[in-house]
Amino acid sequence: MERVTIFDTTLRDGEQSPGATMNVEEKLDIARQLARMGVDVIEAGFPVSSPGDFEAVRRIAEEVKGSVVCGLARAHPEDIDCAWDAIKVAESPRIHTFLSTSDIHLFHQIRKTREETLELARAMVARAKRHCADVEFSPMDATRSDPAFLCQVVEAVIEEGATTVNIPDTVGYTTPEEFYALIRGILEQVPNAHKAVFSVHCHNDLGLASANSLAALLAGARQIECTINGIGERAGNCSLEEVVMSLYVRRDRYPFITGIDTTQIYKTSRLVSNYTGIYVQPNKAIVGANAFAHESGIHQDGILKERRTYEIMDAKSIGLVESTLVLGKHSGRHAFKDRLAELGYDLSAEDLSRAFLRFKELADKKKEITDRDLEAIVADEVRAPVDIFHLEHVQVSCGDHNVPTATVRIVTPDGQVLEDAALGTGPVDAVYKAINRVIKVENRLTEFSVQSVTAGIDAIGEVTIRVEGDGLTFTGRGAATDIIVASAKAYMHALNKLLARRGTQEKVPQY
Ligand code: KIV
Ligand code: ZN
Repeated sequence: MERVTIFDTTLRDGEQSPGATMNVEEKLDIARQLARMGVDVIEAGFPVSSPGDFEAVRRIAEEVKGSVVCGLARAHPEDIDCAWDAIKVAESPRIHTFLSTSDIHLFHQIRKTREETLELARAMVARAKRHCADVEFSPMDATRSDPAFLCQVVEAVIEEGATTVNIPDTVGYTTPEEFYALIRGILEQVPNAHKAVFSVHCHNDLGLASANSLAALLAGARQIECTINGIGERAGNCSLEEVVMSLYVRRDRYPFITGIDTTQIYKTSRLVSNYTGIYVQPNKAIVGANAFAHESGIHQDGILKERRTYEIMDAKSIGLVESTLVLGKHSGRHAFKDRLAELGYDLSAEDLSRAFLRFKELADKKKEITDRDLEAIVADEVRAPVDIFHLEHVQVSCGDHNVPTATVRIVTPDGQVLEDAALGTGPVDAVYKAINRVIKVENRLTEFSVQSVTAGIDAIGEVTIRVEGDGLTFTGRGAATDIIVASAKAYMHALNKLLARRGTQEKVPQY
């Protein structure tokens, strides 16, 4: 069976999902988990886009072993040099550069002729090649490009030394039969095609990203670009778990192997969802909460008699198993640390102490602490951005005959303690209005959801929100046994992210 390279772009294309921004520590945890799962290539970010992205890519290159670490660069000399600066310390570095080839992009966006585009693609691959032996080139919007011109560009970049040529369906427009024919056509018509590995990068605008990627494999592609939970620009990217499990379950149709340890899939999905604040829809293939749930009587009857009647894969194959280790009030620091490491969280001694304190507080209120509780503790206590404004106290009065009223006490960046109060249509509204009176940041709340982390009356309530500000979306998460406190924390989390970005980030280039 032939080996397919799994190229994960959760930290780059995935992070382009609205509100999915992560900090360096979060990205490092995810990169380590991807490497542990056996991802061949980790696209760690787009170094020139901001100092924060550069730092995250550099740290991943320095610390994550066992996978190729790739940095994205537009076909600009400064992008390529910057990507190299960020990844050069990696065990196996790769520069990935891209340039549009469709007439629609050439004419309306990059305003170049085909001749200029061809020359630029050549020159930038040659420049990348002077830095790094492993160079990937993507003709952006390939599926809407003139196939003859596309082949010309592909031939030219291979001549300049591109080792991987990635064919992106940038706008999620293609279909499996069409994409199969495109890949096959390129492989047959480009004379030096055998000198490079062909890759595909499919977006999910029509819900066909996984099907298109699998069709491309049958046509001769040998690298698939994908993200955990399928997150990414607009409707997202091809989902790693879907292609990997399709290859695993249907090896009769797809005679390929990957280096992925499938039992790490569920854990990785949870980690990414936790850090990005993007929930996995319950009916999501492979990792959704309902993916292995059987509701109808007929199905349950079948499953009880023989699992294979209604299940095509075993939940254990993606690592979905009930933890045998239940933590509780008597669990020690060691067991706590080990379980977190198992779940992919690698905490510094200081973070571990904070999280352990929070664990003990929770264990006083709740008998059994599950993995989901631990995830909520880490996201809330440890991985939240530096508290620019710190919520010290929140108090609410409400009820069916009361006007909801909230009082908040907030510590400002220069140490002042400010208190204010507000009325609202409900307790959460009152809290948010009171916070707004202290932190005067223009923003709009666009989403609010509250979920119970586990079952039971003593469960942690987890609030996820999205706010828009400065033209961007920020997610905020907060967890507490009191959902009003969790709501206040989520709002502070999102506002602190907005303020952190305002302070440190330069304009992110559009591409
Ligand atoms: O979708 C796309 O075309 C991309 C490229 C940068 C590969 O993300
Ligand atoms: Zn993309």
